[in-house]
Amino acid sequence: MNKINSLKKKKFHFLFLRLRGTFLVSFCLIFIYLSLPEELGAIDSIIGEDLFKKHCASCHINGGNIIRRSKNLKLSSLKRNGIDNPKDIAKIARQGLGIMSGYEDQLGDNGDQLVANWVWKQAQRAWVQE
Ligand code: HEC
Repeated sequence: MNKINSLKKKKFHFLFLRLRGTFLVSFCLIFIYLSLPEELGAIDSIIGEDLFKKHCASCHINGGNIIRRSKNLKLSSLKRNGIDNPKDIAKIARQGLGIMSGYEDQLGDNGDQLVANWVWKQAQRAWVQE
């Protein structure tokens, strides 16, 4: 009788360990799944910043404009000129605007959006680096 009881206990213990393992694995997977978009967002931001440094910063250093000072990348200036979302900035990055030429060829696939998202984020925080 005792033997059967201890066998039952062992079986229960084994089942418990297996369940615990399953829970741990599921928990890790859920954790990775939930944190992934954030990680990807961070990567996008790094690429955006890099593109900006390569293709835009020469004229728009720190969100300014060394050629037409009033047409800078600060939020007030963008809004004054009717640019109020990253899509508008992406279009300008691609096609240019007035005397600024477009950078479609240099920015590559998606580059216009990545750089535009980064510019928009900087404009929101007044180009103050963290
Ligand atoms: C060679 C200099 C130069 C480079 C490089 C450059 N720009 Fe410009 N940008 C300008 C000039 C000049 C204007 C004003 C154009 C006009 O209105 O005639 C401008 C205007 C803009 C505007 C509109 C700003 C406003 O307040 O109206 C945005 C947005 C912009 N640029 C984004 C970018 C992005 C993004 C890049 C990089 C992909 C870039 N620019 C690269 C010179 C440059």
